[in-house]
Amino acid sequence: MNTHHVPSPPAPATEPGRAVFTPSFLADPHPVVDGLLARGSLHRVTHPTGRTVWLVTHDADVRSCLRDTRLSLSHTAPTPGSDSAAPTQCPDTATALAGQGTAAPVAGPGTRTLLEMDGPEHLRLRRLAGRALSLRAVRHQRAAVERRAERIARQLRSVDHVDLVRDYAVPLSFHTICDTLGLPPRHRASLFRSASVLQNPARHPGHLVDHHRARVRARLGEELRRRRRHPGSRDGMDRVAQAWSADPGLGEDLVVTLCETMLLTASGVTAHMIGTGLLALLERPHLVDELCRGDLPADRLVHELLRWETVTPFSTRRTATADVPLTHATLPKGAEVYLCFASANRDPNRHADPATFDPHRSTTTGHLAFGLGPHYCPGGALAVLEIEVALSSLFRLFPKARILDDPATRVWNGSFLERAPGALPARLAGALPIAVPRAGTGSNGPAAGATR
Ligand code: HEM
Repeated sequence: MNTHHVPSPPAPATEPGRAVFTPSFLADPHPVVDGLLARGSLHRVTHPTGRTVWLVTHDADVRSCLRDTRLSLSHTAPTPGSDSAAPTQCPDTATALAGQGTAAPVAGPGTRTLLEMDGPEHLRLRRLAGRALSLRAVRHQRAAVERRAERIARQLRSVDHVDLVRDYAVPLSFHTICDTLGLPPRHRASLFRSASVLQNPARHPGHLVDHHRARVRARLGEELRRRRRHPGSRDGMDRVAQAWSADPGLGEDLVVTLCETMLLTASGVTAHMIGTGLLALLERPHLVDELCRGDLPADRLVHELLRWETVTPFSTRRTATADVPLTHATLPKGAEVYLCFASANRDPNRHADPATFDPHRSTTTGHLAFGLGPHYCPGGALAVLEIEVALSSLFRLFPKARILDDPATRVWNGSFLERAPGALPARLAGALPIAVPRAGTGSNGPAAGATR
């Protein structure tokens, strides 16, 4: 357990938590996370920018912190050149490795996302997201997601070099969120190009990022205004627009930002989790057999995947506005803190034999992959549905699918806030292998195939 005083002296370069900011964390975060778990729950770490940040790792403490309103998101000032310059809806969209590049915010300057708000202001905007992503609305989506997944998977039969991230996970998640929000097919090709830039801002010049952001925001603003004039389409944008009509004081910028971040994060993080899930199953053909036979309920499988290979290892950064007591330590006032979902999801005090991937375990739904408390992911139900359908549909059509790359040279994309396989070259039914892309060129955003 670390001691904790603010301001803290620079921590030594050997501090164990520093490893979360290195590229090897992307390839395999578990040795680092397990090491932190074993050492204690509170860890002071020097961020590559030189700032001192704190990591909370034990399940019980991560849970209490997620519910604790003294840990503020609105008090967290962005720091140029760090991940924290990228306030995101899900903590996945800051794609630059920590300490490298500058990830631009999902929302542009002057606009704020839900994960930069607290209290009544947050609740007021969050209600709109809740309307678009309600359980009822998501249930109605199932048949459409199944049709979409099946259609994309069938097209793979004629693709020579299949990359299941680029050709399946990415287009499926992009179209699913567009269908959920009700974005017209004629605008999707252009939205798709913009989304791929905005999801990887560090890879593009600033003026291009600004151009695409303006284009997406103009389209979403137009869709919202149209639904306010002509309500009744009963899609996600319609539900947001109607909830906004009931609260007209809410600024258009904030509502557009909400829709923008739903579009970008839903298509990004869900695609990453589908890729992670496909990989886990491709490496375990016996589970594919169980799934195809109907002996493995897809929802249990998905929740165990979310627990075992948490796609967003850390929360968005929070700031302690007071001393916050944890089980065996105190987070000092002023501390900047990341809550570690990945370690909580492998905490032996919560999950028996946590390193084992066992979709038949009784605690599959006790994970924190979607967070908890006021900022609990409102897209969780949609994401679970989509991952379930993605895995079931692909393996129903291609039960003998095989992964073709070498695990030792596999490309992982993301940062300590998010990780996912960059490509999944696979043999489905006689399709040829693809060349594995070089590091950093993997398809982390929607690819051209998404608009097929
Ligand atoms: C596997 C997929 C997903 C994962 C693992 C995930 C994870 C998370 C997590 C952990 C948070 C809370 C972060 C924190 O408290 O610091 C969050 C928040 C959020 N997520 Fe997701 N998410 C996923 C899919 C989605 C989808 C599909 C949508 C929208 C359609 C979405 C929209 C949001 C929004 C709007 C927030 C902010 C909520 C708030 O601040 O009140 N997410 N997500």
